Amino acid sequence: MNILGIETSCDETAASVVQDGREILSNVVASSLKDHSRYGGIIPEIASRRQMELIHPVVGEALKQANLQVHDLDAIAVTQAPGLIGSLLVGISFAQAFSFALGKPLVRVDHIKAHLYANFLGFNDPHFDSFLELPRLPAIGLVVSGGHSSLFYVRDFTYFVLMGQTRDDAVGEAYDKVARILGLGYPGGPIIDRLAQKGKNDEIRFNCASLPESFDFSFSGIKTAVLYHVQRAPVQDEVAATKIAYAFQSSVVSVLVGKAIAACQKKKVRTLLVGGGVAANSELRGRLSARAKEEDIQAFFPPLSLCLDNAAMIAGLGYRLVKKRRG
Ligand code: KG4
Ligand code: ZN
Repeated sequence: MNILGIETSCDETAASVVQDGREILSNVVASSLKDHSRYGGIIPEIASRRQMELIHPVVGEALKQANLQVHDLDAIAVTQAPGLIGSLLVGISFAQAFSFALGKPLVRVDHIKAHLYANFLGFNDPHFDSFLELPRLPAIGLVVSGGHSSLFYVRDFTYFVLMGQTRDDAVGEAYDKVARILGLGYPGGPIIDRLAQKGKNDEIRFNCASLPESFDFSFSGIKTAVLYHVQRAPVQDEVAATKIAYAFQSSVVSVLVGKAIAACQKKKVRTLLVGGGVAANSELRGRLSARAKEEDIQAFFPPLSLCLDNAAMIAGLGYRLVKKRRG
């Protein structure tokens, strides 16, 4: 079954064809990120205008790269929510019109859950690790991105129970804001990740709220702690920035690792799925994999290209929803 996925929830305009919920035939992502970077964050009005310009060529390119004609498609999957309303509307309107014109079913997919589905995708390439082993369900799902930080119990592809989520900023948002405080570029996550690797130290410590009584997160306090620190001791050189990046990141990662492992233990599951842009973070990947191994839990991270927003994850989860609908 060939599903065309369409994702337009934020600044990426993405389309992909996935076969049988597993094999990526094409994965096209265009981004308006550079149009936003000078503002230090996404400007919704610019994002939705760029979505309108890009949607048609991006879908065309996804079909071309998959070497398929429109009549080879079995269904269309589109991101329903959450996201920027103007951006979402472009993808949804396009998908509705396309589905109506072709007479093919349309499925609406939740963006956050789709991030976890990225762990089930692969290219038909023997060297592609994620194609070798499929995660087993039930699982705990940790979604860490620019807009969301959530922990789910995932019984199957259509049954997710929310165990906890952020009470304020998303973790990627905290990375982006800390980068801004340090005068670094946007998006800040990859820059902080890179700097932190050179900044190991014991001099600076930031405390990320652990909210031990729940599986919720809170990242706004640590962001403010970084701001106060920089106001007290302005950053003079790159060495100072690397130390702050290290202290911030290690505290945030400790909380993410602790909660994800505790959720697995509470639900007695041995599979942990991680997804979202922050799943690309090197320290999170390293420390969470190591801790999971100690606890006999299998941790899965998507390949870096599928951590960030993409439409393959939408097509993949869409396939499962179509199958369920057909019974
Ligand atoms: O999943 P995504 O593309 O968008 C949302 O659905 O929100 O995630 C984007 C976020 C940004 O905040 C970015 O700074 C963060 O992911 N990010 C990272 C890394 N790469 C991207 N954060 C930490 N470390 C990274 N290596
Ligand atoms: Zn996302």
